[in-house]
Amino acid sequence: MKKAIYVTTMLLLTLALFAGCGSSSANEENKNETEASQVNRITVGFSQLGAESDWRNTNTESMQNAFTKEAGYNLIYKNGQQKQANQITAVRTFIQQDVDYIVLAPATETGWDTVLSEAKEANIPVILVDRRVDTADKSLYSCWVGSDFELEAKKLTAWIKNYTIKRGIAPGELHIVNIQGTMGSTAQIGRTRGLANAARENHWEIISETSGDFTEAKGREVMAALLKRFDNINVVYCENDNMAIGAIDAIESAGGHVGGDIMNGDIMVVSFDGVNKESLEYCKEGKISCIAECNPLHGPRVKALIEALESGNTPEKFNYVDEKIYSSIEDVISVVVDGEKYEVEKPE
Ligand code: AHR
Repeated sequence: MKKAIYVTTMLLLTLALFAGCGSSSANEENKNETEASQVNRITVGFSQLGAESDWRNTNTESMQNAFTKEAGYNLIYKNGQQKQANQITAVRTFIQQDVDYIVLAPATETGWDTVLSEAKEANIPVILVDRRVDTADKSLYSCWVGSDFELEAKKLTAWIKNYTIKRGIAPGELHIVNIQGTMGSTAQIGRTRGLANAARENHWEIISETSGDFTEAKGREVMAALLKRFDNINVVYCENDNMAIGAIDAIESAGGHVGGDIMNGDIMVVSFDGVNKESLEYCKEGKISCIAECNPLHGPRVKALIEALESGNTPEKFNYVDEKIYSSIEDVISVVVDGEKYEVEKPE
């Protein structure tokens, strides 16, 4: 809006100049009206971390659909290409442009204090979306909206536990590999911690943990390497669907069979997101045994937070989204986590 005032002044000066020339056709008036309404828009600089997954692309679209010109916004979108340095540059550019709000989807949690202090110094509110930043000074950002990644992991591991109990599979029979997301990201930290805790409590074996950076290509590469190193893998815990799709491809290419019958040679794949058609289709077919949903539709949520700030309200600091759990295997119909019951839904 600050920038808008400057542009409005310039526009009025220009209009005054033209009024002096005496030209004012209906078309020009319409054009001027449109321009005048444009300059009252709120400018949002959005630093997205990259385009590594279907989840991420859906998230970007959600932001772009929410912050339209029609809705009264100018959205400046920057893709960080998975590099924090690019995101820091983007935030600094937004500060120079004197945007009204900065929305940051940080790749990893640490290393943000300096640039966020610069935004605070410039009086530009920062809204975090999806992942979080690790800073002692919480005043460096206004609020955050996203998923409880550890809760997602607790739901998924509760499903594995219930499933093995139903099938009479002893805990010691599970030999798990974890294909992790981008190391140091909130999603990776929460999902890895959730698995580690469940493995410790249930006496499951985690054979290996390797990052696949949330991409299908790396998921395939990591899985192919793991299959060469270990011959007893029977559960693949993928920290997102794209890596699961890559891992399934690697398992099938190596002659393996994915599915829930792990006592008869199947390799069970479980994952997170439930966003793209292919993974939901795999879940329907039982190639992915269970998916803990991670909801990417944050555009309207961030917009609501900005609207609250615009009207002088202080939104909640941390805003969690509700998420589901999907499986087409009939054995487990619900899971209970931290006293809360979650029905297991069939993927559509
Ligand atoms: O931070 C959310 C995670 O990031 C999603 O699970 C994953 O697909 C994405 O890349």
